[in-house]
Amino acid sequence: MVDAYSTGRLLTHELAGRGAHLIHVQSSPRIPEFYRRTFDPDGFALDLGHDPSFAALVRTLKELEIDAIAPGTETGVRSAEQLAVALGLAHNSQTAPESRWDKEAMAAALRDAGLGAPDGLRVGSEAQAVEWYRAGGGGRVVVKPAMSAGSDGVRLCHDERSVAEAVGAVLSSESNLLGRTNAEAVVQELLTGPEYYVNTISADGRHQILEAWRYHKKRVAGSPIYDYDVPVDLSSDIGRTLCDYVRRALTALGVHHGPAHAEVIITREGPKLIDIGARPAGCADFPAGIAPDRVGQVEATASWLMDPASVHDLSIPSAPCTGIELRRVAMINGRRAPMTSLAWVDVLRELPTAAMVCPRAAQGDLLEATRDLATSPGFLYLAGTGDEVERDYRRLRALEGRHLYTEQQTAG
Ligand SMILES: Nc1ncnc2c1ncn2[C@@H]1O[C@H](COP(=O)(O)OP(=O)(O)OP(=O)(O)O)[C@@H](O)[C@H]1O
Ligand SMILES: [Mg+2]
Repeated sequence: MVDAYSTGRLLTHELAGRGAHLIHVQSSPRIPEFYRRTFDPDGFALDLGHDPSFAALVRTLKELEIDAIAPGTETGVRSAEQLAVALGLAHNSQTAPESRWDKEAMAAALRDAGLGAPDGLRVGSEAQAVEWYRAGGGGRVVVKPAMSAGSDGVRLCHDERSVAEAVGAVLSSESNLLGRTNAEAVVQELLTGPEYYVNTISADGRHQILEAWRYHKKRVAGSPIYDYDVPVDLSSDIGRTLCDYVRRALTALGVHHGPAHAEVIITREGPKLIDIGARPAGCADFPAGIAPDRVGQVEATASWLMDPASVHDLSIPSAPCTGIELRRVAMINGRRAPMTSLAWVDVLRELPTAAMVCPRAAQGDLLEATRDLATSPGFLYLAGTGDEVERDYRRLRALEGRHLYTEQQTAG
C-alpha cells in the first residue's frame, strides 16, 4: 500500500484482518501532518518508508514478489499507479493518467468523450486567469489548485479582482494539503445544482457502483465547506442518472481497476463531474450494525486486492439502510483556539441519534476556524427518524455556536 493514511488506515486493518501480508511505501519524503498522524504501522509486515530511487524501489518490490498494489489515499495515487505499471500489476490506462488527478485534465477528458464537465482553464498566472474570466463574460467562477484535496484553496469568485486574488493565493501557497506546491491553478465555470459523491470499485474495466450520497455544503468566506451528507437510493431516478454517468466517466478517465470516488453536480444540462480520485473515499468509517447489507468501499477494495474478479459478484443494496434516516455530519469549528479537552466527544455521543462520532482533531491541537476538510474537527453519523436526526443536527450546530470544541462542555 502506498501512503496508508486517512482511509488507508481502515484499508490496512481490513486487509490485515483478512490475513494479507502488507508492505508500506511512502510516496514522498515529507508527508503532511494531516495524513501522517493517521498512520498505523501495526498492520504492516514491512514499512519501506520513502525510497528516493524509483528503480531501486521497483527492484525491492520485485524481490518481495508482491501480488497487488493500491494507494491508501490521494497522496499515493500517482506513485501506486507508476509502481503497478513498472511491476506489471493491474493498473489504469496510461493514455492520459493525469486525467485522474489534474482537475482540468479530467474535465478535458470528459469533454472529449462527449460527457458533461465544467468549462475551465489551467493557468500559471493571475493575468491568464483574468483574461479567461473576461473572455467568458464574467459572472461567478471557481478557482482551485490543479491538484489538491480536502477543498484546500477552493474559492468562489465573482469579479476580476477576486479571481486574481484567489489564483495568487493558490500559486503562492507554500504547500497544499497533499504536501506539494501548486504549480498551476484551475479557473472553472461555477456549476449549480445538487452535488453528489459516488464510490465505486472496478476490475477489468467493469465498474460497480457501491453507494451515492448527496452532499450539503455551506459557503464560508467564499469557500465550500462540508455540512452533511445523506445517502441516495441507487434505484431512484437520480441514483440511476448518477450510476450511468459515473460509469461512463470512469471509462473516459481510464479507470480500469480499483476504487474511485467521484464528485458530480447534476446541473440543468445534466450531470457534470467536478472531481475524481482513483482511490477510496476519505473519512470512510461507518457505524456498525446500521446497514448490515452495505458493501463499504474499504471492504470492496480489500476484496479487489485479494481477488479482483470477486468484485463483479458483490451484491450491492440500492440504499445502505431503509426505514431510518442517516446523516453524516461534518463538524464545523467557529474560531481559532486551542482544543484543551476531548470532553465534547462524549457530549456528542450522548445525542440520542448519534451512531458514531469520529474526531479528527487531537487534544492539544490549535484548532482553526473551519474552512476546509483539514480544519474540520471530525464528523459524526446521526441515525433515527427524520425529526430526531434534524433535532440533533440543530443541537450540534447550536453547541458549535457556543464553541463546543474549544471550551469545556457539559451535556444538557
Ligand atoms: N466548478 C465548480 N462548480 C461548483 N462547485 C465547485 C466547482 N469546483 C469545486 N466546487 C466545489 O468545491 C468542492 C471542492 O472542489 P474539488 O473537489 O475540486 O477540490 P478538492 O480539493 O478535491 O476537495 P474535496 O477533497 O473536499 O473534494 C466541490 O466538491 C464543490 O462543492
Ligand atoms: Mg474533490
